[in-house]
This record gives sequence, C-alpha cells and structure tokens, in this order.
Amino acid sequence: MSVQPSAPPAGKRPAMTLHSLMKMLADGEKISMLTAYDASFAAVADLAGVDIILVGDSLGMVCQGHNSTLPVTLDDMRYHVECVVRGLQKQNGRPLVLGDMPFGCYATPEQAFRSASVLMQAGAHMVKLEGGAWLAPTVEFLVTRGIPVCGHIGLTPQSVNTLGGYRVQGRTESAAQQLMQDSLQLQNTGAQALVLEMVPASLSGEITRALTSCATIGIGAGVDTAGQILVLHDMLGVTQGKVPKFAHNFMAETGSVLGAMQAFVQSVKEKRFPVNELHAW
Ligand code: KIV
Repeated sequence: MSVQPSAPPAGKRPAMTLHSLMKMLADGEKISMLTAYDASFAAVADLAGVDIILVGDSLGMVCQGHNSTLPVTLDDMRYHVECVVRGLQKQNGRPLVLGDMPFGCYATPEQAFRSASVLMQAGAHMVKLEGGAWLAPTVEFLVTRGIPVCGHIGLTPQSVNTLGGYRVQGRTESAAQQLMQDSLQLQNTGAQALVLEMVPASLSGEITRALTSCATIGIGAGVDTAGQILVLHDMLGVTQGKVPKFAHNFMAETGSVLGAMQAFVQSVKEKRFPVNELHAW
C-alpha cells in the first residue's frame, strides 16, 4: 500500500468534542484514533490531524515491557494521561483524549466512577472500559454522572486469561450474536464509542450499521467500522516481538513519525486502511 502524506488539516479544525464525534458519525466521516502515551508523540499526532488519542493500557506492553496489560495501574494511567494532555496544550489541542481504565479498577459502578474521575481530572475527555453487557449498568452510572464512555468488545486484552490468548472473537453464530447484543446494550445505556478488536470484518460491519448513536472504532475488524485505531508502536514499526496481523507499518513507507501519522489519518479517511484481505479475518 503506497500512501502520500498531505498537509495536516489539524490547525484549521476546531477541538474535537463528543458533539463533533457524533457529527462525524452522522456524516459518515471516518474517525482516526491512535494511541499515544507521552507529550511529544501526542503533539505530533495533533499536528497530523488524528481525531482521538487513546492513552491505552497497551502502554503496559509497549512502554513498560510487560507481557500483558494486566500490571498497569490507575496511577500509571493518570500519569500518562497528564503527559499527553500537556503535549496537546503545546500544540493545537484538537484531538479528543480517551483514557483507558486499567484492569481491576471498574468491577462495580461505584469503583468505576471513582477510577474514571481520576482520569477525567487528569484531563481525559472520555474513558474506555473493556467488556460487554455486564458493563451496561456501569456505563449508565458513569454517563449519568457526566463521564462519556467508550466500550471495548471482541478481543478484550485484560481478559486474556479467560479468553485463553489473543484470538479472533465472534467467529461462531452464537458468539457473533452475543457481540451484537453487547454492542446494542452498551449503546443503549449511553456509550458513544465502541472499540471492536479482532472481530470478523462482516460482523463489525453489521454492528456498525446497527448502531446509530455509538461510533465503532475497529482494530483488526475490517474497513466498515466508523473509525480505526492502531497502537502507535505497531504503526511506527518499533514494537518488539510479535506484531499483530492487522497492524500496518506506516513509518516504512513515509520515513518520519509525522508522515506516518498523516498517512494513517489519510488512509483511514479515504477507506484505504485497513485492506480487508491483509488486515482482517
Ligand atoms: O490499550 C490499547 O491500546 C487499546 C487498543 C488496542 C484499542 O485498548
């Protein structure tokens, strides 16, 4: 796939809000999301026109060197959200900042509210939680109390031990139906974004079409989702060890961090990434 980076659109566009996210969904404009964990990469992502920065708990693997995301603490997440927010303040400050809720900090609605408050006070605009229908009461509890929520279903890395590995989800008819029900329930209790990770492209397309007020963001989930997310280190080609099949090294074809991020944004907007046969199931 060859991609020509273009001039960054970020400076001309107002800061992303939930309202603009919903407008993009309604207009069919694809949403670009990248992870970032520090001030410098966040500032470049802003310059490149990335719509949403996810301060993901993937930092446990790509920054801290763990084998999973489970060791990441709420205090780690607070620290990295603060770093990202400071980086954006020095740039255009356009992307929406999505803070990931780490393992073990949202077992009940009350615990989730306390944890999410820490990330919101650190500067996040929205929080992300992994899980399906069981989380619906928590989503409602948070949204009612002023905290926007992004769900995350399919492969949920915090559940790697119960899932038995990092595998594609939703392959059987009953698993696919469950993911569809999870999606509808999360939307109906107030989630306005939903990460679909390692889900067959046809299923994520169906889920995307079924949701009207919740933007699906795919990772290894085909091209038909409302937006796409990649882990920064995967798309820059610096991930050590196994790189997921769905990732694409944008750095290899552009040669600079800004160019790689611009190419990602442009490819997502133009529906040239992901290429279903290469990056999906
Ligand atoms: O933590 C993370 O980076 C994520 C993405 C893989 C969606 O949750």
